Amino acid sequence: MSQDSTLPDYKRQSPEVARRFAELKERPVKLDVRSLGKTFDSAKGPVTALNDISFQCHRREMMGVIGASGCGKSTLIRILAGLETPSQGEVLLEGNAVTGPGPDRGMVFQSYTLFPWLTVKKNVMFGLEMTGNSMTAAEREARQWIELVGLSKFENSYPHELSGGMKQRVAIARALANRPKILLMDEPFGALDAQTRASMQAYLLEIWRHIDLTVLFITHDLDEAVYLADRILVLKPNPGEVLEMIEVPVARPRSADQFHDPEFLATKDRLEELIHPKVQTEKIELPIVRMTEVGDDVE
Ligand SMILES: Nc1ncnc2c1ncn2[C@@H]1O[C@H](COP(=O)(O)OP(=O)(O)OP(=O)(O)O)[C@@H](O)[C@H]1O
Ligand SMILES: [Mg+2]
Repeated sequence: MSQDSTLPDYKRQSPEVARRFAELKERPVKLDVRSLGKTFDSAKGPVTALNDISFQCHRREMMGVIGASGCGKSTLIRILAGLETPSQGEVLLEGNAVTGPGPDRGMVFQSYTLFPWLTVKKNVMFGLEMTGNSMTAAEREARQWIELVGLSKFENSYPHELSGGMKQRVAIARALANRPKILLMDEPFGALDAQTRASMQAYLLEIWRHIDLTVLFITHDLDEAVYLADRILVLKPNPGEVLEMIEVPVARPRSADQFHDPEFLATKDRLEELIHPKVQTEKIELPIVRMTEVGDDVE
């Protein structure tokens, strides 16, 4: 990564970007996370996964969440989804307390969660029928979302007939079909190869441009975080706490051409600095028996 001192600081924003953030903060608050804490009881005693997490997500915001493994990202998103109850604090979605799972939140996980015995269309219709739509209405609605993710030709295919990227597109269509107030995604593209991942990121941006959608996504990929997000919530582990909320100074609309822009690199540098502090790069001595000949050193 470039250490070029002429790079603008990640906090420096062009007038256009500064205007966009001012406008974003004027938008209604979709998600209000207030002093959230979560302690698990484990065999080794209590584990505090999250401590005093507070932030707000505004309408049509795309928020990324990053942090070292085990810092509580999945716990946070599971609480937002209502799949886990917090030990402290509360979550408000459009002002209403989240007390359990509901169709007002769409979830996409890293692992493929489609029903293998249902076609693409039936998978997308599933939630629609559960929420009381007639079959004809559910089918009409499902077709629209399948078209949006570019899979109309595959509406009668089964999940095993699709590639990983296509399965995740169906999962996104299924999550969006109920018109959730927020789309929550836990490492949605983590299992995909680099090329498929890049096209999924472009797809997501394109979908987001066309519909009124607020997104909170977890990723381990710093490029992905900077490329997609308006703001990035950086968490630290043990216990999981907010380290920083970064306003990404990269202009929209985004394109892959921006990956080498100074503001993109400066933001990535900052994320790197926050989640991989220097102390962790000290020489690691492993108690391993040497299995090479003397003189075989590779460094
Ligand atoms: N059900 C549970 N019972 C006990 N401890 C748990 C439970 N779920 C999570 N934890 C602990 O809470 C902490 C946060 O876990 P979590 O899965 O939220 O982290 P994460 O940031 O999503 O990690 P990764 O990046 O590896 O996915 C970890 O220490 C984990 O062991
Ligand atoms: Mg996780």
